[in-house]
Amino acid sequence: MKKRAIPRHIGIIMDGNGRWAEMRGLPRFEGHKRGVQRVKEIVEVSSNIGVEVLSLYAFSIENWMRPVDEVSVIIGLLEKSLKGEFLNFMKEGVRFKVIGNRDKLPENIKSIIETTEHVTENNKGLILQCAISYGGRDEIIRAIRKAINQDLSPEDITEDSISRLLDTAGIPDPDLIIRTSGEQRLSNFLLWQSAYSEFYFTDTLWPDFTKEELLEAIHEYQMRDRRFGKVAIQKGLNIGVGSAF
Ligand code: FPP
Repeated sequence: MKKRAIPRHIGIIMDGNGRWAEMRGLPRFEGHKRGVQRVKEIVEVSSNIGVEVLSLYAFSIENWMRPVDEVSVIIGLLEKSLKGEFLNFMKEGVRFKVIGNRDKLPENIKSIIETTEHVTENNKGLILQCAISYGGRDEIIRAIRKAINQDLSPEDITEDSISRLLDTAGIPDPDLIIRTSGEQRLSNFLLWQSAYSEFYFTDTLWPDFTKEELLEAIHEYQMRDRRFGKVAIQKGLNIGVGSAF
């Protein structure tokens, strides 16, 4: 695979853990446990092929409405994964980062997240950006509140200034967004940032999503013609700022 054509930033909506377990007569948490194993493999291959940022939708702000038992299983798995992966992150140069609304997170998780972010902040490898307690609309609302608190004037409100106030400040927009399990929607993931992302939808359930399928998704992405609202000749010559319409 040509290095040049690798998407800089891949976002993944990891869906289908519950169905994977139910189809096998297993409790839903077994699907989430299996999902964590997939995360490890996909992080490793992304890092190896030169992806700069991998964003994983691990727990949406709406997921807080799931039964309490399931919420604690997912949060527990996140905690265990972070503690377990710590040394590997350092070995592989992964920089860990969380986006989302931390107010609702239990203190122990918040502190593990902060420690992992702090310890890995100077790593130069893959940026692993986990969306935890995350909602795109909530992120935009928090950005607007920050703008008001910083006394930004109406003229100061630009695409750049809003981007700088989002949780993803400094991170390039996702080039490719993958969603597993056959659903074809964004479900509040990276709403602002996905304006020009390419999408890859697959029926594969997340616990069955392999590195081969990731490479297949990247291959399909490489075939796409990304014009960012321009016509082909402008894109080649980099003329004009483009328009969404
Ligand atoms: C979607 O499946 C998956 C989730 C809500 C949780 C994903 C979380 C993990 C894999 C945990 C670990 C993450 C990291 C980053 C270590 P679903 O339960 O919505 O499945 P369903 O649609 O079949 O019910």
